[in-house]
Amino acid sequence: MKNLFKIICLLAVAAGCTARSGWTAWEQTVIERSDSVMYVTVMPADSAILRATSRDLGPKELKSAELQTLLAKMYRTLTDPSQDGVGIAAPQVGINRRMVLVMRYDKPGRPIEPYLNIKIDSLWGQKNPGPEGCLSVPPYRGIVQRYPNIQISYLKPDGTPVTEQVDGYSAIIFQHECDHLDGILYIDRADTVYINKAWAAEREEFAYERPDWWK
Ligand code: NI
Repeated sequence: MKNLFKIICLLAVAAGCTARSGWTAWEQTVIERSDSVMYVTVMPADSAILRATSRDLGPKELKSAELQTLLAKMYRTLTDPSQDGVGIAAPQVGINRRMVLVMRYDKPGRPIEPYLNIKIDSLWGQKNPGPEGCLSVPPYRGIVQRYPNIQISYLKPDGTPVTEQVDGYSAIIFQHECDHLDGILYIDRADTVYINKAWAAEREEFAYERPDWWK
């Protein structure tokens, strides 16, 4: 009976830990155990994650140290020569949360910035076709029609809410990355998809295996 009481107490403490941070056990594992350059989920092996709808970060996650670690690792992953992308969404590192990093072509120095709980409020203008690729769909590229103008709402890492208009290539990146949060990939929208031979050759140079702790 005493042991049963102990077990119940331990379970209560464990549940409390989860509730305090707000992250799931899987999310904590990914954030803590990933190298600074994270494993990037790919189709079709990781379709369960890439095709899921992601959920918002709650107040606890927004204030957590884990969020800062995750943002730093996502930044390092996006800018690593093995990936070299212009944007990344959290499902691409195994986390089904509404957060993306985008390279801002419309700002001086093209900074890569994080956007939390992001949503596209509206899209307008004449849709234009353009080439796209995705770190999670190697080694393909495709031609996708996107809007040139959007309005987005999001939180900055310090929790400040922002609404802004974005135009041009940055707007296209936002549309691609926000699609990831709803389980949509550019290949779903593309008019044409083709193999990028240079990318295929490049991928053979790097290791892309899942970490052994990955589920
Ligand atoms: Ni992508």
